[in-house]
Amino acid sequence: METIVAKSAGFCFGVERAVSSVYAEIHNDEKPIYTFGPIIHNEQVVKDLENKGVQVIHDEKELQNLNKGTVIIRSHGVSKEIYDIIEKQGLRIVDATCPFVKKIHNIVREESKKGKKIVIIGNDNHPEVEGIKGWVLGDAIVINCEEDAKKLDVSDGSGICIVSQTTFNYNKFKYLVEIINKKGYDINVVNTICNATHVRQVEAKEIASKVDAMIVIGGKSSSNTQKLYDICKCECSNTYYIQTIKDLDLCNVESLKTIGITAGASTPKNIIEEVVLNVRYEF
Ligand code: F3S
Repeated sequence: METIVAKSAGFCFGVERAVSSVYAEIHNDEKPIYTFGPIIHNEQVVKDLENKGVQVIHDEKELQNLNKGTVIIRSHGVSKEIYDIIEKQGLRIVDATCPFVKKIHNIVREESKKGKKIVIIGNDNHPEVEGIKGWVLGDAIVINCEEDAKKLDVSDGSGICIVSQTTFNYNKFKYLVEIINKKGYDINVVNTICNATHVRQVEAKEIASKVDAMIVIGGKSSSNTQKLYDICKCECSNTYYIQTIKDLDLCNVESLKTIGITAGASTPKNIIEEVVLNVRYEF
């Protein structure tokens, strides 16, 4: 059986970096080790880390009760206030904020210092957006849809700076910026979308269009894996959505010559490798 494995399957650069930094900290002496929020939306990884002594803290309150150990900031980043609390509590910080997110923090900080109104195009409840808001001097405006963009009204005349959540859809971003542009404000638009998601989707589509069956690996509640599955299913009706190799039940194996494999952004390498090896040698 020929297998085509997507190069972009699994962790993006920022998540890979964050997860590796937690594993690296396990051997450090400054215990206990905490992550501010689960390091990744993958139960197996979080469980494995928990078994190795890494605890997840969920909010400022929990943080304020700590007085010893290391706190790891995940790739989404956090607000300035969280850094201040960690410092005040005398805790050690390991900052695994993705550099692409850190760049947004710096932009909104600097631009808001100049008096610009910050507009974030993204999902207001997402931790990354929460974190970005926390670097703005004053209030930021979050825009997620056409209606929000049409309603935008910035009365003081010092201009606006628009940034985006890294995983926002590029076409939607462009459309919302066009609506805001028509309002005649002095606008500085910085496209801060990261193309890791886009690259993964384009590659999955391309592979799915030329194989007999396509396997998409990822957590049940992972929205980016669901999206990958939908894209692949449009190209290849014989597409399987599995969490691990245990879920794989290929139909009419004898008729399959080529199988494509991809995985969502929070699928660890070992789970992907297990599927690849099984498909290559067991079928
Ligand atoms: Fe990943 Fe960083 Fe992009 S976390 S999706 S590489 S912004």
